[in-house]
Amino acid sequence: MIHLLDETTSTNDEARRGDYAEGDIIWAENQTAGRGQRGHAWSSSRGLDATFSIVAKPSFIPAARQFAISRITALALADTFAAFGIAARIKWTNDIYVGDRKITGVLIENDLAGDMLARSVIGIGININSRAFDPSLPNPTSMAAECGREFDRREVVERLHGNFTALYASLKKGGEEDIHRRYDSLLYHLDEYHTFALPDGVRFEASVLGTEPSGRLILRHADGTVRAYAFREMEFVLKK
Ligand code: BTN
Repeated sequence: MIHLLDETTSTNDEARRGDYAEGDIIWAENQTAGRGQRGHAWSSSRGLDATFSIVAKPSFIPAARQFAISRITALALADTFAAFGIAARIKWTNDIYVGDRKITGVLIENDLAGDMLARSVIGIGININSRAFDPSLPNPTSMAAECGREFDRREVVERLHGNFTALYASLKKGGEEDIHRRYDSLLYHLDEYHTFALPDGVRFEASVLGTEPSGRLILRHADGTVRAYAFREMEFVLKK
């Protein structure tokens, strides 16, 4: 069920506060404190984009395999964009890019019960009909900017919801390997050499090979060495 709110702080906060059922979507027209990854804020334009959170209760997923939720979310988004004629790729962990521009951000917040997941709140901000962007953002785009036409926001969110639900069911039925393979095949910079940076600023050239089951990103360095990186152990250096 889609719960449509006019305004909230952050749909992730609302999803965690309320008593929502598995599969529910909390969609707010405006967030007063939208949150992004790495402590950044997330802003979007009222009436033009979509900011919402999906509630899942994946008690069948061990905590050590929680990256599976990132995988199905990113794949559901890529499948959705493909359905609207937009070829998107997944910038690890789950940013969605068209070329070198970001069209969607994802913030997943998991609660554990012992060694298993109990609840996953999957916050998604899709740039749909915006054409002007916050100048502080490095490389934004939107569906409208890519295609030169407006989109029906509800159709986009419902399509994404359908794709997510199908992938979630497949994960539950043991389809993790296929999901992992499809996710890796859509990775941004797959098999192409680009610049990355370590937390101390040191840059290096590497190509993306795929992900480990745990979710770590596997890179091949220019000297041929292969190494897996966890979140925050390196970052992509974006083209301006
Ligand atoms: C990022 O790319 O930094 C992640 C952005 C995630 C934004 C979405 S909008 C809906 C949900 N509510 C939030 O406060 N954040 C996520």
